[in-house]
Amino acid sequence: MSAAPRGSTAAAGSPVMLRVDGLAARYGAIEALREVSLEVRVGEIVSLIGANGAGKSTTLMAISGIVRATAGSVEFEGRRIDGERADRIVADGLAQVPEGRRVFPRLTVRENLEMGGYLRNDDLAPDLARVHELFPVLSDRASQLAGTLSGGEQQMLAIGRALMSRPRLLMMDEPSMGIAPLLVARIFEAVKELNRNGLTVLLVEQNARAALKLSHRAYVLETGRTTFTGSGAELLGDDRIRRAYLGEG
Ligand SMILES: Nc1ncnc2c1ncn2[C@@H]1O[C@H](COP(=O)(O)OP(=O)(O)OP(=O)(O)O)[C@@H](O)[C@H]1O
Ligand SMILES: [Mg+2]
Repeated sequence: MSAAPRGSTAAAGSPVMLRVDGLAARYGAIEALREVSLEVRVGEIVSLIGANGAGKSTTLMAISGIVRATAGSVEFEGRRIDGERADRIVADGLAQVPEGRRVFPRLTVRENLEMGGYLRNDDLAPDLARVHELFPVLSDRASQLAGTLSGGEQQMLAIGRALMSRPRLLMMDEPSMGIAPLLVARIFEAVKELNRNGLTVLLVEQNARAALKLSHRAYVLETGRTTFTGSGAELLGDDRIRRAYLGEG
Protein backbone atom coordinates (compact mmCIF):
# COMPACT_ATOMS: atom_id res chain seq x y z
CA MET A 1 0.00 0.00 0.00
CA SER A 2 1.32 3.40 -0.88
CA ALA A 3 -0.20 6.70 0.10
CA ALA A 4 2.31 8.43 -2.15
CA PRO A 5 0.47 10.47 -4.73
CA ARG A 6 2.11 9.05 -7.82
CA GLY A 7 1.45 9.84 -11.40
CA SER A 8 -1.87 11.50 -11.87
CA THR A 9 -1.81 14.81 -10.12
CA ALA A 10 -4.27 14.63 -7.27
CA ALA A 11 -4.03 18.38 -6.91
CA ALA A 12 -4.17 19.15 -10.65
CA GLY A 13 -7.37 21.14 -10.36
CA SER A 14 -6.31 23.09 -7.29
CA PRO A 15 -5.43 26.75 -7.43
CA VAL A 16 -1.81 27.76 -7.83
CA MET A 17 -0.25 28.59 -4.47
CA LEU A 18 3.24 29.55 -5.59
CA ARG A 19 4.15 30.86 -9.03
CA VAL A 20 7.77 31.56 -9.86
CA ASP A 21 8.34 33.16 -13.24
CA GLY A 22 11.67 33.84 -14.93
CA LEU A 23 13.57 34.13 -11.69
CA ALA A 24 17.23 35.17 -11.88
CA ALA A 25 19.75 35.70 -9.09
CA ARG A 26 23.49 36.17 -8.78
CA TYR A 27 26.29 36.10 -6.25
CA GLY A 28 28.59 38.86 -7.48
CA ALA A 29 29.82 37.69 -10.88
CA ILE A 30 28.27 34.23 -10.51
CA GLU A 31 24.92 33.85 -12.23
CA ALA A 32 23.31 31.24 -9.99
CA LEU A 33 19.79 31.45 -11.45
CA ARG A 34 19.16 32.36 -15.08
CA GLU A 35 15.54 31.52 -15.63
CA VAL A 36 13.64 29.52 -13.08
CA SER A 37 9.91 29.08 -13.60
CA LEU A 38 7.71 26.74 -11.62
CA GLU A 39 4.31 26.37 -10.02
CA VAL A 40 3.13 24.67 -6.88
CA ARG A 41 -0.59 24.04 -6.49
CA VAL A 42 -2.49 23.89 -3.24
CA GLY A 43 -2.09 20.41 -1.74
CA GLU A 44 0.85 19.31 -3.88
CA ILE A 45 4.26 17.96 -3.05
CA VAL A 46 6.54 19.30 -5.78
CA SER A 47 10.21 18.46 -5.91
CA LEU A 48 13.10 20.23 -7.50
CA ILE A 49 15.98 18.00 -8.54
CA GLY A 50 19.30 18.83 -10.12
CA ALA A 51 23.07 18.36 -9.90
CA ASN A 52 25.28 20.01 -7.32
CA GLY A 53 25.49 23.71 -8.01
CA ALA A 54 22.44 23.76 -10.32
CA GLY A 55 20.82 26.43 -8.16
CA LYS A 56 18.34 24.48 -6.04
CA SER A 57 19.18 26.13 -2.75
CA THR A 58 19.40 29.54 -4.38
CA THR A 59 15.93 29.02 -5.84
CA LEU A 60 14.48 28.34 -2.38
CA MET A 61 16.38 31.27 -0.87
CA ALA A 62 15.21 33.61 -3.61
CA ILE A 63 11.61 32.54 -2.97
CA SER A 64 11.95 33.00 0.79
CA GLY A 65 13.58 36.41 0.47
CA ILE A 66 17.03 35.46 1.78
CA VAL A 67 18.63 36.00 -1.63
CA ARG A 68 17.43 38.95 -3.71
CA ALA A 69 16.22 38.11 -7.23
CA THR A 70 17.59 40.28 -10.04
CA ALA A 71 14.76 39.44 -12.44
CA GLY A 72 11.48 37.58 -12.54
CA SER A 73 8.66 37.34 -10.07
CA VAL A 74 7.41 35.25 -7.16
CA GLU A 75 3.71 35.13 -6.39
CA PHE A 76 2.39 33.46 -3.25
CA GLU A 77 -1.36 32.99 -2.99
CA GLY A 78 -1.89 35.51 -5.75
CA ARG A 79 0.31 38.25 -4.30
CA ARG A 80 3.82 39.32 -5.35
CA ILE A 81 6.31 38.57 -2.57
CA ASP A 82 9.60 39.16 -4.38
CA GLY A 83 11.23 42.13 -2.68
CA GLU A 84 9.49 41.39 0.60
CA ARG A 85 11.55 40.83 3.74
CA ALA A 86 12.25 37.24 4.72
CA ASP A 87 10.50 37.49 8.09
CA ARG A 88 7.45 39.00 6.39
CA ILE A 89 7.32 36.06 3.99
CA VAL A 90 7.39 33.61 6.91
CA ALA A 91 4.58 35.55 8.56
CA ASP A 92 2.67 35.32 5.24
CA GLY A 93 2.67 31.52 5.56
CA LEU A 94 5.72 30.33 3.64
CA ALA A 95 8.44 28.68 5.71
CA GLN A 96 11.76 27.12 4.77
CA VAL A 97 13.84 24.35 6.29
CA PRO A 98 17.36 25.35 5.28
CA GLU A 99 20.04 23.09 3.86
CA GLY A 100 22.21 21.78 6.68
CA ARG A 101 19.38 22.22 9.20
CA ARG A 102 20.86 25.24 11.00
CA VAL A 103 19.32 24.60 14.39
CA PHE A 104 20.51 26.84 17.22
CA PRO A 105 22.98 24.45 18.88
CA ARG A 106 23.17 26.22 22.26
CA LEU A 107 19.44 26.49 22.69
CA THR A 108 17.33 23.60 23.91
CA VAL A 109 15.05 21.66 21.62
CA ARG A 110 12.06 23.44 23.17
CA GLU A 111 13.66 26.87 22.70
CA ASN A 112 14.43 26.09 19.06
CA LEU A 113 10.79 25.23 18.48
CA GLU A 114 9.67 28.39 20.25
CA MET A 115 11.99 30.44 18.01
CA GLY A 116 10.08 29.04 15.04
CA GLY A 117 6.91 30.58 16.41
CA TYR A 118 8.41 33.93 17.35
CA LEU A 119 6.46 35.89 14.74
CA ARG A 120 3.19 34.68 16.21
CA ASN A 121 1.58 36.17 19.27
CA ASP A 122 -1.02 33.50 19.93
CA ASP A 123 -0.68 30.33 21.99
CA LEU A 124 2.10 28.05 20.75
CA ALA A 125 1.05 25.08 22.90
CA PRO A 126 -1.20 23.32 20.34
CA ASP A 127 1.51 23.59 17.69
CA LEU A 128 4.17 22.27 20.06
CA ALA A 129 1.86 19.35 20.80
CA ARG A 130 1.43 18.65 17.06
CA VAL A 131 5.18 18.75 16.45
CA HIS A 132 5.75 16.41 19.40
CA GLU A 133 3.15 14.05 18.00
CA LEU A 134 4.88 14.05 14.62
CA PHE A 135 8.37 13.62 16.10
CA PRO A 136 8.05 12.18 19.62
CA VAL A 137 11.82 12.31 20.09
CA LEU A 138 11.57 16.12 20.23
CA SER A 139 9.30 15.81 23.24
CA ASP A 140 11.62 13.31 24.95
CA ARG A 141 14.55 15.65 24.35
CA ALA A 142 12.78 18.95 25.03
CA SER A 143 15.38 20.27 27.49
CA GLN A 144 18.42 18.88 25.70
CA LEU A 145 20.71 21.29 23.82
CA ALA A 146 19.97 21.06 20.10
CA GLY A 147 23.68 20.79 19.27
CA THR A 148 23.80 17.41 21.04
CA LEU A 149 21.10 15.82 18.87
CA SER A 150 21.99 13.41 16.07
CA GLY A 151 21.84 14.69 12.50
CA GLY A 152 18.48 13.04 11.89
CA GLU A 153 17.05 14.44 15.12
CA GLN A 154 18.32 17.89 14.17
CA GLN A 155 16.54 17.58 10.83
CA MET A 156 13.32 16.72 12.65
CA LEU A 157 13.88 19.73 14.86
CA ALA A 158 14.48 21.99 11.86
CA ILE A 159 11.22 20.77 10.31
CA GLY A 160 9.40 21.17 13.62
CA ARG A 161 10.78 24.67 14.01
CA ALA A 162 9.53 25.63 10.54
CA LEU A 163 6.10 24.17 11.32
CA MET A 164 5.84 26.38 14.40
CA SER A 165 5.24 29.39 12.13
CA ARG A 166 2.11 27.57 10.90
CA PRO A 167 3.05 27.65 7.22
CA ARG A 168 0.70 26.76 4.38
CA LEU A 169 3.69 26.12 2.13
CA LEU A 170 6.81 24.43 3.49
CA MET A 171 10.03 24.45 1.47
CA MET A 172 12.63 21.87 2.47
CA ASP A 173 16.24 21.85 1.29
CA GLU A 174 17.75 18.34 1.24
CA PRO A 175 16.13 16.93 4.36
CA SER A 176 17.83 13.54 3.79
CA MET A 177 21.38 14.88 3.58
CA GLY A 178 23.81 13.00 5.80
CA ILE A 179 21.11 11.09 7.63
CA ALA A 180 20.83 7.36 8.34
CA PRO A 181 18.36 5.58 5.98
CA LEU A 182 15.94 4.66 8.75
CA LEU A 183 15.57 8.27 9.84
CA VAL A 184 15.29 9.40 6.22
CA ALA A 185 12.31 7.07 5.83
CA ARG A 186 10.79 8.50 9.01
CA ILE A 187 11.26 12.04 7.75
CA PHE A 188 9.73 11.29 4.35
CA GLU A 189 6.80 9.60 6.12
CA ALA A 190 6.33 12.77 8.13
CA VAL A 191 6.34 14.88 4.96
CA LYS A 192 3.63 12.64 3.50
CA GLU A 193 1.59 12.87 6.67
CA LEU A 194 1.89 16.66 6.79
CA ASN A 195 0.80 16.81 3.16
CA ARG A 196 -2.20 14.56 3.81
CA ASN A 197 -3.16 17.00 6.54
CA GLY A 198 -3.15 19.87 4.08
CA LEU A 199 0.40 21.22 3.98
CA THR A 200 1.75 22.08 0.52
CA VAL A 201 5.42 21.18 0.04
CA LEU A 202 8.27 22.26 -2.23
CA LEU A 203 11.10 19.79 -1.74
CA VAL A 204 14.71 19.97 -2.88
CA GLU A 205 16.42 16.61 -2.80
CA GLN A 206 19.71 15.07 -3.81
CA ASN A 207 17.99 11.70 -3.34
CA ALA A 208 16.00 12.11 -6.55
CA ARG A 209 14.41 8.68 -6.56
CA ALA A 210 12.93 9.05 -3.08
CA ALA A 211 11.80 12.59 -3.86
CA LEU A 212 10.09 11.61 -7.12
CA LYS A 213 8.27 8.73 -5.43
CA LEU A 214 6.92 11.13 -2.86
CA SER A 215 5.99 13.95 -5.24
CA HIS A 216 2.97 14.79 -7.32
CA ARG A 217 5.18 16.69 -9.74
CA ALA A 218 8.78 17.67 -10.15
CA TYR A 219 11.05 20.10 -11.97
CA VAL A 220 14.58 19.54 -13.16
CA LEU A 221 17.01 22.41 -12.68
CA GLU A 222 20.12 22.62 -14.87
CA THR A 223 22.65 25.42 -14.44
CA GLY A 224 20.11 27.91 -13.19
CA ARG A 225 17.26 26.99 -15.54
CA THR A 226 14.20 24.81 -15.08
CA THR A 227 14.40 22.54 -18.10
CA PHE A 228 11.98 19.69 -17.61
CA THR A 229 8.83 19.01 -15.65
CA GLY A 230 6.39 16.19 -15.24
CA SER A 231 4.66 14.02 -12.70
CA GLY A 232 6.85 12.09 -10.28
CA ALA A 233 6.05 8.87 -12.14
CA GLU A 234 6.83 10.39 -15.56
CA LEU A 235 10.23 11.57 -14.43
CA LEU A 236 10.98 8.24 -12.73
CA GLY A 237 10.24 6.55 -16.05
CA ASP A 238 12.16 8.96 -18.29
CA ASP A 239 15.40 7.54 -19.73
CA ARG A 240 17.29 10.79 -19.70
CA ILE A 241 16.30 11.53 -16.10
CA ARG A 242 17.16 7.99 -15.07
CA ARG A 243 20.64 8.31 -16.53
CA ALA A 244 21.35 11.80 -15.26
CA TYR A 245 19.76 11.77 -11.83
CA LEU A 246 18.89 8.23 -10.79
CA GLY A 247 22.29 6.70 -11.44
CA GLU A 248 21.12 4.25 -14.10
CA GLY A 249 22.49 3.16 -17.44
N1 LIG B 1 27.26 32.47 -1.20
C1 LIG B 1 27.66 32.21 -2.43
N2 LIG B 1 28.62 32.94 -3.04
C2 LIG B 1 29.02 32.69 -4.30
N3 LIG B 1 28.51 31.72 -5.07
C3 LIG B 1 27.56 30.95 -4.54
C4 LIG B 1 27.08 31.14 -3.20
N4 LIG B 1 26.13 30.22 -2.95
C5 LIG B 1 26.02 29.49 -4.08
N5 LIG B 1 26.88 29.93 -5.03
C6 LIG B 1 27.01 29.39 -6.40
O1 LIG B 1 25.72 29.46 -7.03
C7 LIG B 1 25.46 28.28 -7.78
C8 LIG B 1 24.19 27.61 -7.28
O2 LIG B 1 24.39 27.16 -5.95
P1 LIG B 1 23.27 26.44 -5.10
O3 LIG B 1 23.81 26.33 -3.71
O4 LIG B 1 21.99 27.14 -5.28
O5 LIG B 1 23.20 25.02 -5.80
P2 LIG B 1 22.48 23.68 -5.35
O6 LIG B 1 21.74 23.17 -6.53
O7 LIG B 1 21.71 23.91 -4.11
O8 LIG B 1 23.72 22.72 -5.07
P3 LIG B 1 23.91 21.53 -3.98
O9 LIG B 1 23.23 20.33 -4.57
O10 LIG B 1 25.39 21.35 -3.92
O11 LIG B 1 23.31 21.97 -2.68
C9 LIG B 1 26.71 27.43 -7.66
O12 LIG B 1 27.51 27.67 -8.78
C10 LIG B 1 27.37 27.94 -6.41
O13 LIG B 1 28.77 27.76 -6.45
MG1 LIG C 1 21.86 23.15 -2.20
